[in-house]
Amino acid sequence: MSVSDIIRTKRDIREFSDRPISKEDKLAILEAARMAGSGLNSQHWRFIVIDDKSELETLARLSTTGDWVADANFAVIVLTEKNRPYHALDAGRALTNMQLEAWSRGIVSCIYTGFKEAEMRKRYGIPDKYSIDVVVGFGYPAGKVIGKKRRKPLEELVYSNKFGQTLNLK
Ligand SMILES: Cc1cc2nc3c(=O)[nH]c(=O)nc-3n(C[C@H](O)[C@H](O)[C@H](O)COP(=O)(O)O)c2cc1C
Repeated sequence: MSVSDIIRTKRDIREFSDRPISKEDKLAILEAARMAGSGLNSQHWRFIVIDDKSELETLARLSTTGDWVADANFAVIVLTEKNRPYHALDAGRALTNMQLEAWSRGIVSCIYTGFKEAEMRKRYGIPDKYSIDVVVGFGYPAGKVIGKKRRKPLEELVYSNKFGQTLNLK
């Protein structure tokens, strides 16, 4: 799959099968995070991998918007140093790399941002210095991935030269 194909087809999928993910695939996904750029190349992200079934169920209980993570094969909690002004951007770049790497291997994923923060910090020993930016769950899809991306037309999102000005590419 070309990079363009991956970007155009990748969906966020929340239903996973029981099929295990190999250690090699897991490592490739984590390597993709490591390869992301970060402001000043500071590489301040930290990632906690959860790949034990009962721990995934605990993770789901501590979530408010991602209980589907209980059925993931593994999940990654993405942390960044919260005092860095661009930390969420850095988290997003690492996250996107992981999701695209996974998709290229036939592995689907989804993310969530709602969780019981204090309980997450306690359970996973997350220091105050770090923001819990996002949790991403990975697995093979439960069924055929159907449905198209619903996206606004480019003209609604992109302007030429000035905010609100119709797109007019040279
Ligand atoms: C910043 C952000 C936060 C999100 N939070 C959640 C979430 O808490 N729970 C969830 O199930 N999906 C969450 N999603 C997934 C979105 O619902 C999904 O990316 C969107 O519907 C587009 O999906 P598609 O690419 O398959 O079309 C989040 C996505 C983003 C980018």
